[in-house]
Amino acid sequence: MKYEPLSFAIPELNGISKDTIDGHLGLYQGYVKHVNLIREKVAAYENDMENNAYAIAEMQRRLGFEFGGMRNHEYYFAQFEGGARELPDGPLKEKIIFQWGSVDAWATRFRTIAKTRGVGWAMLYHDPHTDQLVQTWVDEQHIGQLADLDIILALDMWEHSYMRDYPSSNKGMYIDAFFQNLNWEVVASRLA
Ligand SMILES: [Fe+2]
Repeated sequence: MKYEPLSFAIPELNGISKDTIDGHLGLYQGYVKHVNLIREKVAAYENDMENNAYAIAEMQRRLGFEFGGMRNHEYYFAQFEGGARELPDGPLKEKIIFQWGSVDAWATRFRTIAKTRGVGWAMLYHDPHTDQLVQTWVDEQHIGQLADLDIILALDMWEHSYMRDYPSSNKGMYIDAFFQNLNWEVVASRLA
């Protein structure tokens, strides 16, 4: 079964240009294409395991990168659908305040994670095993992704997310724009 790229109804954003979003959606579609390609090639190569074992192993190693690139972006783009909305009262807000003391204190910490050097993602997850929020940095699309946790908030910090709009030395302006356009209702609904 092939993966199909999703479409997203993204309104005009403040501080993140349509060019950026359109180019970024193209990159997302590339990840979906490559997830399918790897899976097709692995299946084809399995007809001759003896000669292709090394090639298959390398493609399997690559699948985590492409799959993460596909799924991370699906969480990212969906967060802009419907336009900016404030964090509603409810379980997510309560958990953030319980764990970090205030939404502002959490945001300060999350922004610090987002400014990690390199390309990757700032991620806020819910751990269903312990019913708590956990956040971390994910290198590239997959390295450091936390197993069996549900993605709640995904912030793409690859330069392709903002380099048309801001110099890479000023990624804080992109983070500001991300939060200005974020539909927190979409984010909060993921905890349910
Ligand atoms: Fe991206």
